[in-house]
Amino acid sequence: MTRQALWPSLLEPSRQGDDGLCTVSAKGVRVRLADGRELLCGTSGLWNANLGYGNEAIAEAVATSLRDASYLSVFRYENAYARRAAQALVDVCGPHYRRVLFSTSGGAANDLVMKLARLHHALRGDSGRKVVVGLRGSYHGLTFGSFGLTGEDLGQQLYGVDQRLVRHVSGDDPAELAELLERQGGRVAAVVVEPVRGSGAVPLSPHYLGRLLGLRERYGFLLVADEVATGFGRTGPFFASQEWPSQPDVLVTSKGLTNGTMAAAAVVVSAELARSFDRPGVVLAHGETQAGTPSTCAAILATLEEMDRLDAVGRSRALSRKLDGKLAELVREHPRVLGTEGRGCFRALKLAGRDGGPLPGSEVAAVVAAVRDAGAVTHPGPGGVQLIPALTYTDAELTELLDRVRAGLDAHTAAVAGTGVAG
Ligand SMILES: Cc1ncc(COP(=O)(O)O)c(C=O)c1O
Repeated sequence: MTRQALWPSLLEPSRQGDDGLCTVSAKGVRVRLADGRELLCGTSGLWNANLGYGNEAIAEAVATSLRDASYLSVFRYENAYARRAAQALVDVCGPHYRRVLFSTSGGAANDLVMKLARLHHALRGDSGRKVVVGLRGSYHGLTFGSFGLTGEDLGQQLYGVDQRLVRHVSGDDPAELAELLERQGGRVAAVVVEPVRGSGAVPLSPHYLGRLLGLRERYGFLLVADEVATGFGRTGPFFASQEWPSQPDVLVTSKGLTNGTMAAAAVVVSAELARSFDRPGVVLAHGETQAGTPSTCAAILATLEEMDRLDAVGRSRALSRKLDGKLAELVREHPRVLGTEGRGCFRALKLAGRDGGPLPGSEVAAVVAAVRDAGAVTHPGPGGVQLIPALTYTDAELTELLDRVRAGLDAHTAAVAGTGVAG
């Protein structure tokens, strides 16, 4: 078999080299494939192109910055683009926050966060506090540190990922976290949570959040909101944690930060936490050559301006209300749809298999493929598919997405009935 030079991520060999899975261009909310088809994008890229593809203002800002300063670093230097982007991020995050560290991916940013938390406690004379707690089923990236923190089993054992200083607890029942803290509270440096767990689009319940915030008061760990996916209007507010009764110590943002145009992430640190590092000689051992470059920061600044100009948060809320109605209709009318999960423009459909029970994981890819054949890109999720439309979707595009999902489900149902394959 002839292989393409490209070794794509998380795609098993039998599905590699397929022109039906190779995109060649993207504009608005549509992507074109190498086989010539054009598909409606129901995933906002990898949940990052919140404003749709091909935003002219962002493209222009990046092009201008590349001509002005093709490269400047934030490694033992500062640069003016990074200063401006950091301040703009602090402004949008709110007065609770004070400082920003730049990174190049959600995974690398979570690595940084773990180092930041441990250094913070060491500076307070508590260097024994090194344990970082994540939630079972969570996703924080696949770099070695973030892979360890990721609570979904993606082969951490096989790859020798070091999880000796990581613990995972339930994201549904806070009692498990409370018990862990009772036993090891003095060793816990940070608890990292996704406000809406990406895998399954499951929001933290108000009860869980209340307990979590109370436990932070009691045990003194840093609370980190991994908003890599939930930021930039994805779940309603600009950042999901802005609706929490009390703010996290650290907020991590990445996907929507440049509307998917650059390898960018930012770790936004509260004023109070930032103060603990503000003394002579303190240096955090984290730096990335491509973090905080002029083009990245120009993209961040332009994305923030476009979020504002396009009223992306307002549009996200309006689209979310329409999604509520359309998804309720789908649950009522379609026998394969058992229910929905999620918030804002971050939704999951829970589907039924042939026996009426939850769709088995082994069948999810076939459903995603059937919806793709019906003309729309959706994301695989536990027992179903996830819908993560651009916040700028029109009513007609939303109707089209739901129609294509229905058509895909019908085709999959017919194919399963035809072959007698369980699913
Ligand atoms: C909540 C969360 N954290 C971290 C990551 C990892 O980001 P990246 O793929 O940029 O490393 C993701 C990616 O999906 C995510 O959803």
